[in-house]
Amino acid sequence: MNDAGVPVLKEAAWRAVGVPRAHESAALHVLGQATYTDDIPELQGTVHGALGLSGKAHARIVSTDFARVRAAAGVLAVYAVGDIPGLNDCGPIIHDDPVFADGVVMYVGQPIFIVVAETHDQARRAARLADIVYEELPAILTPQAAKAAQSYVLPPMRLARGEFRQAFEQAPHKVKGELYVGGQEHFYLEGQIAYAVPKEDKGMLVLCSTQHPSEMQHVVAHALGLHSHNIVVECRRMGGGFGGKESQSALWCAAAAIAAFKLKRPVKLRADRDDDMLVTGKRHCFHYDYEVGYDGDGRIAAARVDMVTRAGYSADLSGPVATRAVCHFDNTYYLSDVEILAACGKTNTQSNTAFRGFGGPQGAIAIEYVIDEIARNLGRDPLDIRRLNFYGGEGRNVTPYGQVVIDNVIGALVAELEASSDYRARREDVAAFNRASPVLRKGLALTPVKFGIAFNVTHLNQAGALVHVYVDGSILVNHGGTEMGQGINTKVMQVVAHELGVDMAHVRATATDTSKVANTSATAASTGADLNGKAAQDAARQIRERLAAYAVKLYGGDVEAVRFAADMVFVNGHEVRFPELVQKAYLARVQLWSDGYYATPGLHWDPVTMSGNPFSYFVYGAAVSEVVVDTLTGEFKLLRADVLYDAGRSLNPAIDIGQVEGAFIQGMGWMTTEELWWNEGGKLMTHAPSTYKIPGVSDCPDDFRVALYNNSNATDSIHRSKAVGEPPLLLPFSVFFAIRDAVSSVGGHKVNPPLNAPATSEEILNAIAAVEAAVAQGA
Ligand code: MTE
Ligand code: HPA
Ligand code: MOS
Repeated sequence: MNDAGVPVLKEAAWRAVGVPRAHESAALHVLGQATYTDDIPELQGTVHGALGLSGKAHARIVSTDFARVRAAAGVLAVYAVGDIPGLNDCGPIIHDDPVFADGVVMYVGQPIFIVVAETHDQARRAARLADIVYEELPAILTPQAAKAAQSYVLPPMRLARGEFRQAFEQAPHKVKGELYVGGQEHFYLEGQIAYAVPKEDKGMLVLCSTQHPSEMQHVVAHALGLHSHNIVVECRRMGGGFGGKESQSALWCAAAAIAAFKLKRPVKLRADRDDDMLVTGKRHCFHYDYEVGYDGDGRIAAARVDMVTRAGYSADLSGPVATRAVCHFDNTYYLSDVEILAACGKTNTQSNTAFRGFGGPQGAIAIEYVIDEIARNLGRDPLDIRRLNFYGGEGRNVTPYGQVVIDNVIGALVAELEASSDYRARREDVAAFNRASPVLRKGLALTPVKFGIAFNVTHLNQAGALVHVYVDGSILVNHGGTEMGQGINTKVMQVVAHELGVDMAHVRATATDTSKVANTSATAASTGADLNGKAAQDAARQIRERLAAYAVKLYGGDVEAVRFAADMVFVNGHEVRFPELVQKAYLARVQLWSDGYYATPGLHWDPVTMSGNPFSYFVYGAAVSEVVVDTLTGEFKLLRADVLYDAGRSLNPAIDIGQVEGAFIQGMGWMTTEELWWNEGGKLMTHAPSTYKIPGVSDCPDDFRVALYNNSNATDSIHRSKAVGEPPLLLPFSVFFAIRDAVSSVGGHKVNPPLNAPATSEEILNAIAAVEAAVAQGA
């Protein structure tokens, strides 16, 4: 018992990390009390913006007439390209991304102006009244068309090892083909929003929903012709980001700030869902041409893939996305002689951007598709072909880009899942079911994942934090990461609590704020908890060391032996309550706050040769999915999914399992029902939930078994944990290949169904028809 009558845990057993804890805002979320940007009480004088959008995919703007917009009810001002005080640019890397169209429009939905009115509704109505005369120009809408026209936002990339062509020619068996995998709308529940509040002496406060406050600060400073120190960007939380708020929150911040600066009034710009979907970029769709040679056992001897993606009208993050696709084509497989090409097609569509996995899923799906074909060609279970090609064994542990895989656990992980999911017996059951069921067909698939952790742009792998211990012993932590529901604050609070030996309940996390921690990276690449956790640990450790030194001054003993655990400090036989020691330390003038910093060691990357050590470590996982497909309607249902995921020594197993479940369902939506469709004029017609089908509760499998693989990170990550944000998005490849397996059963598994993603009902029916036609022709 401590002096407050609370039982004290044994210090050795005490841990604040590695234990399941509820999300720091869970209660606020369910009570509707968590403040999102639009919930912040509006200041007096606040006005509202709406964007006026291009109606053409590619056109010269002959003239703009905003007279009817200005005359509309409640309208205060209209601002277009000529009204921007500074730079007309919100591009994150290459400066090819105008805030407002300048002379030409490059996609349907491109912002041309902002109208500011007394109310949100008035602004939206007025935005439709602009009279714009266009002179239409030829538009490119698909990645294949972009490739044919050699229309790229950046030079194409190539990574090669060994002698592909020679190895391919010599291989006894070959597969060649093409595949298309569609893009994906982020569908964050909270749309894009920025609330810009002018401050004294050219100051600007921007409250917004963003994964990247520092980038928003730069963009706003440039747009206003000011310095970074004039701008403060704050984000307490997002209602989801999923990569869609890594760079693409910039437009909304810039437009709101320009209007607020000109009008000298607070301006809120909140996108309506349709506008959000029409204006912002999405996951990149990919088209692949592949050629793979293999031997009679199914071992890959030579692999070549030529990928082209729909980057959209500007570069945005397409370069790093394509790079990650190139670096994930290998997935869990050793490829000796390989050539990987990737090009970012410049198209007259939204500028595609980061989306959970960031090109990694798009790279890996291609090799999985090929392996699935090899297995069918050889009449073998795809799991056997996968296993045969896994990294591991003599000379088979170097990736095509030259990084040595030192932490490979895929073989053991898959073996564990194969057993726990009862894979072999269920394979038999599925075959038996299909023999007796002509219309409903079942399918089963196990797919593995290996995912590299770190920003593939090396300098982004850094983070900072500030930890304050107040005189009453309560603790406040601020770090450069942003909370989007993934639980970064919870994890960082746990790390700080662990370092200072207190319960997490004594720690509070504040909003991300560019005036607290400077020059932060986006919370992205699944590195948020890794980087900011280490930075916060560094800060908390400095405070603990000062407190320990002071405790030894008071009570004697060895500073190394001082222990902080269970809200107590154990020093030289004394047990002191943490707040008591803090109070004494304050009176003795010990600094009770600290900054902390972390930069991931050991990373390097040469973009010219596409080689180096881009990743700090790899995360592994695998999933088994069983589906039933209705061969008359093309509908499917996921019956059961078993997932095993390597979160290292998980910081918080409850949050990590939630991340795996969420990513799995989100990835399943991408692979199956979420279809983006543009009409001939280049207008995205699927710009609302009525036409764009994300998974619902009823699409989740009734039997969903998610477990964490018992492992410890071989790399010195935060408490030896591993990242969890993005990699599980690749696990529902198993759903896609289970569907392909079910379709394949229609042709007695003799024909490779030509199935593209998303495997919508229409796509499934087309694949069934193709299989039946091939069988009829005697395949
Ligand atoms: N989980 C929730 N609930 N909401 C999100 O927006 N974004 C994902 C993932 N999990 C996201 C999420 C993406 S794209 C990334 S990169 C990581 O969270 C970022 O957070 P982390 O690095 O702190 O894991
Ligand atoms: N992931 C997310 N964002 C990024 C990355 C990445 O790998 N590289 C640069 N920005
Ligand atoms: Mo995640 S796509 O890196 O924001």
